[in-house]
Amino acid sequence: MEKNAKIFVAGSKGLVGSALVRQLTSRGYTNLLLPEISELDLTCQQDVADFFAKEKPEYVFLAAAKVGGIHANNTYPAEFIYLNLAIQNNVIHQSYLHGVKRLLFLGSSCIYPQLAPQPMKEEYLLTGLLEPTNEPYALAKIAGIKMCESYNRQYGTKFIAVMPTNLYGPGDNFHPENSHVLPALIRRFHEAKVKQEARRKELGVKSKEQRSLTTSPLTHDSSPGDSVVIWGSGTPRRELLYVDDMAGGCMHLMELSDQHIAPELLSYPKPCFVNLGTGEDVTIRELAETVRAVVGFSGSLVFDATKPDGTPRKLQDVSRMHRLGWKHSVSLEQGIRNTYEWFVENRAAKGD
Ligand SMILES: NC(=O)c1ccc[n+]([C@@H]2O[C@H](COP(=O)([O-])OP(=O)(O)OC[C@H]3O[C@@H](n4cnc5c(N)ncnc54)[C@H](OP(=O)(O)O)[C@@H]3O)[C@@H](O)[C@H]2O)c1
Repeated sequence: MEKNAKIFVAGSKGLVGSALVRQLTSRGYTNLLLPEISELDLTCQQDVADFFAKEKPEYVFLAAAKVGGIHANNTYPAEFIYLNLAIQNNVIHQSYLHGVKRLLFLGSSCIYPQLAPQPMKEEYLLTGLLEPTNEPYALAKIAGIKMCESYNRQYGTKFIAVMPTNLYGPGDNFHPENSHVLPALIRRFHEAKVKQEARRKELGVKSKEQRSLTTSPLTHDSSPGDSVVIWGSGTPRRELLYVDDMAGGCMHLMELSDQHIAPELLSYPKPCFVNLGTGEDVTIRELAETVRAVVGFSGSLVFDATKPDGTPRKLQDVSRMHRLGWKHSVSLEQGIRNTYEWFVENRAAKGD
């Protein structure tokens, strides 16, 4: 990608899109097209056609999507399949019509069969039934991959795709009910710490008053209420990738020369997509312990084993991405530290 090339980031305000914009800017790309949904609704075929005709982007990152958790996927399956198919149909087709040099489509690891062997390799696509709760979303993502592959085969385009594992980082959704496991843990531990500190302050004041009356020393390192409840047994294993690492991986693929990318990603029937993860996983208990340490909460963890655990393990095989010359660089602890700092400055401080 040339530093002054016209680059369209679709979905630039989202978790993934904003990380891509940070990477592009820090690497010196200056000619970015970043329309918001209010300026360009990507589900509208005519508007997308007009946008491409006017702006003629040379490179496209397709990170716009209707995204949500299990509840949203279950409640709005029609929206998940329709909106995602519409966005990707419009952007991928216009990219072909206007000669886009390279397009990167963002998929998700939910494309793999529910019972896929672990770690999951790219070849496991379409080898079994999907997880029923997000099947419409996963089918749209699979259609996106197959669209890239079909356009490459028929028209010689260079459309590739990445399947990131669970992402986290600055700009994440920390909603108390519908956020992913890591931001949910960060929020819960932070709130528990704030309560703990308030209680200690109060007890500290009281203990001083009591000391002045009784002269008995009181210490308050912890109280019985200082605990955080975590759903499930704590034993399921999850893989997590820091969002700026994800953006680095995407940039790596967009910056690789055609000679390097073609043998691996543009040689049908080899898949035109690649897993993007760390290839390492941790238990929910280990994850919670790391968040507790980063946040600085000194109470205990309580696992509520009456609540469902979900899939026991979901880990990507990342050897293909390693062969393409990229490996993640941000450790889980450092990533959680950065994310917690962002949360404190941007969410907790504003009372969100
Ligand atoms: N987050 C993860 O853990 C994760 C993991 C693997 C893969 N991915 C993939 O990465 C992609 C982006 O996910 P994300 O987490 O960044 O989601 P996100 O934070 O919800 O961002 C999605 C972006 O798309 C925009 N958008 C939605 N509908 C649009 C439309 N009709 N026209 C124009 N823009 C539209 C949204 O705009 P508004 O905010 O204004 O609606 C938002 O900026 C998705 O394809 C997802 O599958 C994410």
